[in-house]
Amino acid sequence: MRMEFSSTAEIALPKDPLEWVVGQENSVKIARICASQKRHMLLVGAPGTGKSMIARAIASILPKPKYEISVIHNPSRPEKPVLSVRTGEMAKSEKPKEFGVVLLPGEAPEFVSEQLGMRCRRCGGLSHSRIPSCPHCGADKIRKHILGMGGPEHSQKTTVEAVRVRKDGSEEMLIYERTNDDRVRMLTEKELKERKDHEAKLMRKVIVPLNRPTFVQVVGNNETELLGDVRHDPYGGHPEIGTQPYMRVVAGAVHESHEGVLFVDEMATLGETQRFLLTAMQEKKFSITGRNPNSAGAAVRVEDVPCDFILVGALNINDLGNLSPALRSRIRGSGYEVLLNTNMEDTPENCAKIAQFVAQEIKGDGKIPHASSSAVDEILEESRRICKEADGKKGLTLRFRNLSGLIRLAGDLTKAENAKLIEKEHVRSAVQFAKSAEEQLNDKYENPWSAGMADFGVRSKKGSETV
Ligand SMILES: Nc1ncnc2c1ncn2[C@@H]1O[C@H](COP(=O)(O)OP(=O)(O)O)[C@@H](O)[C@H]1O
Ligand SMILES: [Mg+2]
Repeated sequence: MRMEFSSTAEIALPKDPLEWVVGQENSVKIARICASQKRHMLLVGAPGTGKSMIARAIASILPKPKYEISVIHNPSRPEKPVLSVRTGEMAKSEKPKEFGVVLLPGEAPEFVSEQLGMRCRRCGGLSHSRIPSCPHCGADKIRKHILGMGGPEHSQKTTVEAVRVRKDGSEEMLIYERTNDDRVRMLTEKELKERKDHEAKLMRKVIVPLNRPTFVQVVGNNETELLGDVRHDPYGGHPEIGTQPYMRVVAGAVHESHEGVLFVDEMATLGETQRFLLTAMQEKKFSITGRNPNSAGAAVRVEDVPCDFILVGALNINDLGNLSPALRSRIRGSGYEVLLNTNMEDTPENCAKIAQFVAQEIKGDGKIPHASSSAVDEILEESRRICKEADGKKGLTLRFRNLSGLIRLAGDLTKAENAKLIEKEHVRSAVQFAKSAEEQLNDKYENPWSAGMADFGVRSKKGSETV
């Protein structure tokens, strides 16, 4: 076939990541619907046909997440941290609040400024609390302890408590404290309590940050990774030596993918965990608790943490039977099941798509040179050969993993020669080079195992003869 370019450097690559997916027009169409309508998607197909690629592309066209999820310390029941879901603006507007009144050292009662180290006991002159002796009269500001016990830092106070008599004769407790900028803050007991409650609210752990990827992938049956956890604390959350429960809460992939894509690769390997995933999809929220019953974390629970994700599951057609029927019907009920193609017709347009694929792989690799049009021709030959061998028919293969490895290898061989472009010869050498151990065995001994390998688009002796 005559190519319309001399090297793949001339091929303009599409901006839209879904247009990078070659030969899966139907799946791509559905992927767009899933992204805009927030539907789930099950991708069924052979390895290397673009399942992960489609999942990533869906995630990349989603809007940025709007909500941050955090947990807040609950002073009255630490084992039930409070859930907080807020927008970026809400998070930004959370300013530290001021409590009480701030006085200049000269405005505070004398005994207070003296005890806080701001006023000289002898001359009454004011100076910064960090200066140990009065700059006015030279006297030591800090009262030495009898028998010289304790250094100056022990005898200087940062808070002073005092009793004030109100106009009506009743008494109230006042707390004076030294601020960081050497002033005096005066608080009533009520204000002190309000501040404590407020500070407790600031004891916050962000478990799902605002700036997060919209693509979260899980593989295999790992409950804590999928559903979150509360870590064990050997001190059982003891207020002084332990770690507070809210600090030990960890989000799962279902939460991290809130407003994004949860990609479950090799979905059938989820096993028992499928049932939790189903619940999460139905409820769009999933409580986080310690998943190890013997751990101190098991007593801790955060209810109803949001998990509104687009599920994209991927699996090989042979594993379809291991998928829970309930989960499958859930996906079909609010989404789509699609079967990926393994080949496409050998037309000039489709050959051009393979050329686009070659250009994409080269760009994606970043370390190999571009390919000449004759090299692309040779890759097309390999694509026809794999199609014939794996699918037993004429066409161009869409099992791209092998082709992708081949391009990389041809690129490395080109680089090793210091050549500017991948040429036909480099692709040919790469084909020889890239043979798997089984294939090499097979070339030597015509090993009968190779028949089964055809499924993976691997060459067998018989296959290569038919090209
Ligand atoms: N349909 C496709 N179009 C373009 N490139 C593809 C396609 N399928 C696979 N590839 C290439 O092969 C690589 C592996 O594909 P991947 O999406 O991981 O396959 P799968 O998840 O189906 O096993 C991709 O990163 C991409 O470079
Ligand atoms: Mg994959």
